[in-house]
Amino acid sequence: MAEKRLKRSFLQRVMGTPATQKPAESQCWNYAEGKLTIDLQKAPELTVSGGALRLEGNNLPLRVLVVNSEDGEYRAYHNRCTHIGHRRLDPVPGTNTVQCCSINHSTFDCCGAKIEGPARRPVANFPVEKNQGRLIISIVEQATNR
Ligand code: FES
Repeated sequence: MAEKRLKRSFLQRVMGTPATQKPAESQCWNYAEGKLTIDLQKAPELTVSGGALRLEGNNLPLRVLVVNSEDGEYRAYHNRCTHIGHRRLDPVPGTNTVQCCSINHSTFDCCGAKIEGPARRPVANFPVEKNQGRLIISIVEQATNR
């Protein structure tokens, strides 16, 4: 199957500018004791199929990409390409994949396995549980590719 590329400009690729935004409501998430909790009422970006958010900063120990995948599953990835530039990732519509925002656009399947590009290792993903309008993501740091 041919790789589908997310439509980005050359400059965006060179600069490593991801398509996925931070949440409009910065208070929609918190992190404590290894659990990243997202209040979906405050994160409408994640209520639409194919929607995604990138979460980083505050006390979160690593960058996280959260995707409401088009197959109906919520997925969370360590938002750090395993190629040398360690750029951020974006979901690619209609493919159930995530793709590095850089010029080399390494692409990973829904489980984080590399399917295209120069990255040599998979991207870590984290267990996601949906409970009473919240997503609870277990951040397992030893599984990541720091
Ligand atoms: S940093 Fe992702 S392909 Fe280079």
